[in-house]
Amino acid sequence: MSEKIYIFDTTLRDGEQSPGASMNIDEKLQIAELLDELNVDIIEAGFPIASNGDFEAVEEISKKIKNSTIAGLARANFRDIDRAWDAIKLAKAPRIHTFIATSPIHMEYKLQKQPNEVLELIEKTVKYARNLCPEVEWSCEDGGRSNIDFLYTCIEKAIDSGAKIINIPDTVGYTLPNEYGNIFKKVKNNVPNIDKAILSTHTHNDLGLAVANSLAAINEGARQVECTINGLGERAGNAALEEIVMSLKVRKDLMPFHTDLNTKSIIKTSRLVSGITGFNVQPNKAIVGTNAFAHEAGIHQDGMLKHSGTYEIMTPDEVGLNKSTLVMGKHSGKHAFSEKLKELGYEVGDNALMEIFGRFKDLADKKKEIFDEDIIALVDDQVLRVNDKIKFVSLFVNAGSIEKHNAKLTLEIDGNKKEAKSSGDGPVDATFNAIKKIINHGAKLKLYQINAITAGTDAQGEVTVRLEEEGRQVQAKGSDTDIVVASAKAYVNALNKLIIKRTKSAPSDISNMKIEGV
Ligand code: KIV
Ligand code: ZN
Repeated sequence: MSEKIYIFDTTLRDGEQSPGASMNIDEKLQIAELLDELNVDIIEAGFPIASNGDFEAVEEISKKIKNSTIAGLARANFRDIDRAWDAIKLAKAPRIHTFIATSPIHMEYKLQKQPNEVLELIEKTVKYARNLCPEVEWSCEDGGRSNIDFLYTCIEKAIDSGAKIINIPDTVGYTLPNEYGNIFKKVKNNVPNIDKAILSTHTHNDLGLAVANSLAAINEGARQVECTINGLGERAGNAALEEIVMSLKVRKDLMPFHTDLNTKSIIKTSRLVSGITGFNVQPNKAIVGTNAFAHEAGIHQDGMLKHSGTYEIMTPDEVGLNKSTLVMGKHSGKHAFSEKLKELGYEVGDNALMEIFGRFKDLADKKKEIFDEDIIALVDDQVLRVNDKIKFVSLFVNAGSIEKHNAKLTLEIDGNKKEAKSSGDGPVDATFNAIKKIINHGAKLKLYQINAITAGTDAQGEVTVRLEEEGRQVQAKGSDTDIVVASAKAYVNALNKLIIKRTKSAPSDISNMKIEGV
């Protein structure tokens, strides 16, 4: 029997720390439910001290999720740990995850503490957390750049103080696979009480090595992997869950390990995370990119027809990418449409189904062929937006080279309709000016990008908008057959995210805030 690798998903915590990727409570719950269905062992639901919104999200997830362990993050101080415990204590299996930096550069400049002071804090805070919670994980932030002898001492202390899981993060994505793997090997061989703990890997992708580093750590003794859906995360992101899990599955000949993941839920979880965060998945992204299973070159197609194993090392079905059987068009009924949604991996309630079906009918009137991507965009647009404060209602705008561009826009704010007219330099500018007339804000437009969802001039356009306000960034998508309407929706979605983000501290505060209260 192969050994189990525990999957610790941190999409809702480290993933959410990536600039622009904030999520509201409902969105986090939707993702947590899919992570639970995916059967991840641990969901790091958030950083409860960061904001009331983070706290509530972690608390709600703790109450609702029935299978996965729920972890809450805390720095090395009592206030953080109390807050994390309060948020997770109702979980079926709670875990406090506490961390402190151990590298010379972090201790000297960020913490302004001597190694012996850090050691003292590890003992105090891990013991404190262990008195509250039966399961405590301890992380040495910037472990990849820490002095190895100091790391042994810290890890031994954390285990003696009650930590059951020892996580060694490559916080800045600096190490190479053999180097990172060696840290685990040395820790296994030199920390006297290491058999009392599970070793965990946590890698960042600054050099594009996050997954390779995670696999190297597993080869040297790590039995928990921290990762995120689509590799979402600060800077270049975290290790991608789907890549690690499928590497272990496909290459079990060389890596005799298994995970308990229900890999058939990978695609739909990836789509949900992308839809909610507004972060598109690149087409050639391993496992979940739209081209990951596409074969276009004649020689490949010929091989595939003779034997799929010629060019496919795993089947699309294994990750939940089903070959579509139902073709949708303007004559399709509600029942067929609901079956189609299931085929695409979505289960929506009756009200949402009616809403999306209505929008599907409108789209089918405008567009000859309805592709799966069109339906996915409708679900993203409709289901994910139900709890938004600001809603797009309608837009009239003129385009072309003859007249000045004017927009007449209606939005709904907390259920009340508001209308504004504005002009601008082009239809999109006129529309964004009209939005600003209704919702006065100081956010700057940092990214505006249009993609066609499918081929054809009647294709839906998908617009991505990134806004920045006082150092906070948010990113959102909107889609429609009219690209100016898609632009308005994306802008409004981004403003909704900004409202959530305003209640949170900036992500970088997570490691910069002073350590107090110990
Ligand atoms: O990258 C990192 O060091 C982290 C810790 C908080 C575990 O995310
Ligand atoms: Zn991290």
